[in-house]
Amino acid sequence: MRIIKTKDYDEMSRKAANLIAAQILLKNNSVLGLATGSTMTGLYHELIRWYERGDLDFSAVSSVNLDEYVGLPGDHHQSYRYYMNENLFHHINIRQDCAYLPDGMATDAEQECAAYEAQIEALGGTDLQLLGLGHNGHIGFNEPADIFPKVTHEVALEESTIKANARFFTTEDEVPKTAITMGIGSIMRSKQILLCVSGESKADTLKQVLTGPITPQCPGSIVQLHPNLVVVADEGALSLY
Ligand code: F6R
Repeated sequence: MRIIKTKDYDEMSRKAANLIAAQILLKNNSVLGLATGSTMTGLYHELIRWYERGDLDFSAVSSVNLDEYVGLPGDHHQSYRYYMNENLFHHINIRQDCAYLPDGMATDAEQECAAYEAQIEALGGTDLQLLGLGHNGHIGFNEPADIFPKVTHEVALEESTIKANARFFTTEDEVPKTAITMGIGSIMRSKQILLCVSGESKADTLKQVLTGPITPQCPGSIVQLHPNLVVVADEGALSLY
C-alpha cells in the first residue's frame, strides 16, 4: 500500500487526478472505475482541466461507475448518472456509450445487476478503481454486513447513509431506499485501487480501514488485501493514522 498525504482537499484532488491522468497517458484505452460524492468533485474538475489544456484524451477510455440509486432516472438531479454528466462526462471527450452506470430504472434489478457485472467482464475489468469512503466504512454502496458481497447487487441503504444523503433532497422521504452497487469482488478485481479520503470527520473510519481487522462490518477494510492500493488522503483524514 502506498499512502500519499496531502495538505488539504485541493491537493488531494490534484494528486489523485494526476494519478488518473498518468493511467490514461500510459494506456489510452484504460477502463476506469468511477465514483460519485463530494470527495470526487475536485478531482473531476482537475481532470477536466487536464482535458481542456489538451494534455489528456478520453476518446478511447471506458468507464464503469460503482453505483446508482434505484428509482431515479438519469436526468434526475440526484441520480449518479446526472452527477457524472455534470461533473465530468459532459466536459470531456469520453464516448457517452462507453461511460457505464447501472440503470436505476431497470424493471428487473436482478437482471440489471447481472448485466452490469457481465459488462465489466466484457471490458476486461477495470484498470483503476476510484473509491471514496463512507463514514460507516462503506465503499460503493456496500454497507456494513455479515459477508463481503462478491458481485453487483441491489442493496438496502443504511439509515445513516439515507440521513447523510438527505441533504441533497428536499425531504428525507425522497432519498431512495435501495441502490445497485458493484460488489466487493467486482471492486477488488481491479488492477489498481485509488482510495481518496478527505477531512477529519473520516479520520477514525480511515484508521479502521487501513489498520483495523478486515471485516465486512467495515467493508472498506478489504482494500488492505489489494496488491496495488494507493491512498490519497489529506492531513485531516490521516490525523489518527
Ligand atoms: C459513491 C460511492 C460512495 C461514496 C462515499 C463517500 O459513488 O461510491 O461510497 O464514495 O459515500 O461519499 P462523499 O465523498 O460524499 O463523502
